[in-house]
Amino acid sequence: MASLTSLISSPPSSTNNIFPKRTSQLSAPIGRLQTLRKSQLAVTCKSSNGRSDPFDEVLAAAAAASRRDVLLGLGAGLYGAGAFVTDPFSAAFARPIDGPSQDVCKLATPSPGNPLQIECCPPAMAGRESKPFQFPSPSEPKRIRRPAHLASQDKEYVEKYKLAMKRMKCLPPEDPRSFFQQAKVHCAYCNGSYVQSSHTNLGLQIHFSWLFLPFHRMYLHFYERILGSLIQDPTFALPFWNWDHEDGDRVTEDKPFERIRDDNYARVYELMVSGAQRRLEFFGPKYRAGDPPPAGGGGTSERLHNMAHLWTGGHNQQFGEDMGNFYSAGRDPIFYVHHCNVDRLWNVWKTIGGFRFDFDDYDYLNTSFLFYDENSDLIKIKVKDVLDPQALGLEYEDRPIPWRNSRPVPTAANAARTATAAAFGGPITSPSAFPLVLEKVTTVMVPRPKKGRTAKEKSAASEILVVEGIELEGDKVVQFEVVINDDPDNPSGPSNSEFAGSFLNIPHVHGNNGHNKFVTGLRMDITELLEDIGAENDDQIQVTLVPKKSDGPVTIGGLKIEYSS
Ligand code: C2O
Repeated sequence: MASLTSLISSPPSSTNNIFPKRTSQLSAPIGRLQTLRKSQLAVTCKSSNGRSDPFDEVLAAAAAASRRDVLLGLGAGLYGAGAFVTDPFSAAFARPIDGPSQDVCKLATPSPGNPLQIECCPPAMAGRESKPFQFPSPSEPKRIRRPAHLASQDKEYVEKYKLAMKRMKCLPPEDPRSFFQQAKVHCAYCNGSYVQSSHTNLGLQIHFSWLFLPFHRMYLHFYERILGSLIQDPTFALPFWNWDHEDGDRVTEDKPFERIRDDNYARVYELMVSGAQRRLEFFGPKYRAGDPPPAGGGGTSERLHNMAHLWTGGHNQQFGEDMGNFYSAGRDPIFYVHHCNVDRLWNVWKTIGGFRFDFDDYDYLNTSFLFYDENSDLIKIKVKDVLDPQALGLEYEDRPIPWRNSRPVPTAANAARTATAAAFGGPITSPSAFPLVLEKVTTVMVPRPKKGRTAKEKSAASEILVVEGIELEGDKVVQFEVVINDDPDNPSGPSNSEFAGSFLNIPHVHGNNGHNKFVTGLRMDITELLEDIGAENDDQIQVTLVPKKSDGPVTIGGLKIEYSS
């Protein structure tokens, strides 16, 4: 029997590792997954009306097209025109991003300077009046998102899901509700199509910043309501890929690989609990109107989500299509199911307590985006509209959170704490060697401005290890891990306290200047880590950078400790 799981989220039984530690685990089984998903995804429109896949047509046209920007409507005259904030309630210096310009939309590209130019612009935005977002009426039934692996056992639901998907795929490609257009929404917001409406010389990017979570929640909201309206079912809800629970990441009764599962849980713990005590670290850097588009180095919520993109992307495709590149990710239905889990974990994070709140910054709350809704109306929606899932009529079925208690344990050396910081081994690189190209395992001593912090000091501010000036090419997969006071010859994995975090770049376009290189940083909250390895009273820590995968060079500017309140 075809289950939903086997249609949209079926890791082969041997690969229930969604946060693979080693490159070989990352790449080997992907081909099978892709073939399985593509061949079993019985919701293409082709079979029913003989139309060919619109994505193929667009790619062919794009490849043939000369490289050029497409300016829609009256846009050209608006370049550089205005930097005015018109919201009458804004403070004098407020600068929320006022969505994409409706008048300018460029061809997108999988990577800067790439000859492949892709049309990702939505239909007819120029000159069109947008409507302000309306909350669903409280009398509407709730939409309850269920885990895909359980929803797949509900035959009626599976039929609904397939029918809704089929209808969406069979809408004419120019219909903003069609799957073709829905998939392009992601591309347009991530791969260089849009410019900020108040700063048309600056691109708009919804990854790598505090906009990551709210933007994707909005996207899911409209996508889900369109699907529901196509089958006249106001209760229709997307399923979520429950990859943070072993049941959601497994399709057979095979015994899970316990080591891999435990590493995965420990990683989720790091990115949701120990490394995500404050909102800046969880949501990502602030991004306001007039700022250049951010590149790389999002918050832990985003880093948590990156690996599943690469894992489900095609490793034999030129640009990792579909899921392994932001321009094409929306073409794979698993994208939406994956993002439902990311969205659900945003709610879970807020229930963990401590200082885990949403931002209340004016610019954040008033940042707006444009989407087409189920009536094909163009809607302007703000971040403040989506902070309360209840108000959106949305609920997630409760699931156990097994990673909640996966606090890593220190290695024997640190448990005994007989070693001094200098005795963890390996050659130590001098800070003066930075910036350096990270080609091999590299260890450096990082001074701590404060030691022996009291409980009060710790609750006032977290201790953050910052890897600064990470410079790489945006279209290259780059991955490295960071461990503290650990044996550089045998660095710990996520199940040990010494593991501080990892950096992973998903190929993307970061600016609108056609340059390939960008500079970013990595922030890791190590407050709890230092307690666990008994290093709270040390003047310095020994930090080791462990390269895992590089399709291109990565330079590291330096390392330092910062405090974040
Ligand atoms: Cu917009 Cu999972 O990415």
